Amino acid sequence: MYFCTMEEKEKQYQLLLKQAQALVEDETNLIANLSNLSSLIHFTFNFWWTGFYFVDGDQLVLGPFQGPLACTRIPFGKGVCGSAWKEEKTLVVPDVEQFPGHIACSSESRSEIVVPIFKEGKVWAELDIDSKELGTFDETDRIWLERIVKVIQ
Ligand code: SME
Repeated sequence: MYFCTMEEKEKQYQLLLKQAQALVEDETNLIANLSNLSSLIHFTFNFWWTGFYFVDGDQLVLGPFQGPLACTRIPFGKGVCGSAWKEEKTLVVPDVEQFPGHIACSSESRSEIVVPIFKEGKVWAELDIDSKELGTFDETDRIWLERIVKVIQ
């Protein structure tokens, strides 16, 4: 995990947003774009797991990601991912062990952020990021990651 000051984090996110826009502007294939986006975010900050889930009926199904193996399906309302979908808002979890019903795809994961992605007012996918450290994610991450996922809307 890469540690940085708040100002450095802001600068990294500013650059990341530009890179994300440039990555997707000439490519229309969703899987290609999400694959590169997960890699871009993951290796910018050296997170533990960075990836996307798609809404599939009453479940989420695993999409492109970087990191160790992950749960392939998550029911609506379950875990951090299912809860962010149900609540239709970004969830920042400083300590996953304190989150009721957290789904431990990896025992190494300590903190997490899940950002729902909307189309016509409905959640159709999510960005999920896990960290091996407690309290990795804050308002800065929420604000910037919500901007970044908009590049694929
Ligand atoms: N921990 C998540 C499951 C997905 S993995 O972290 C990749 C959750 O509770 O929803």
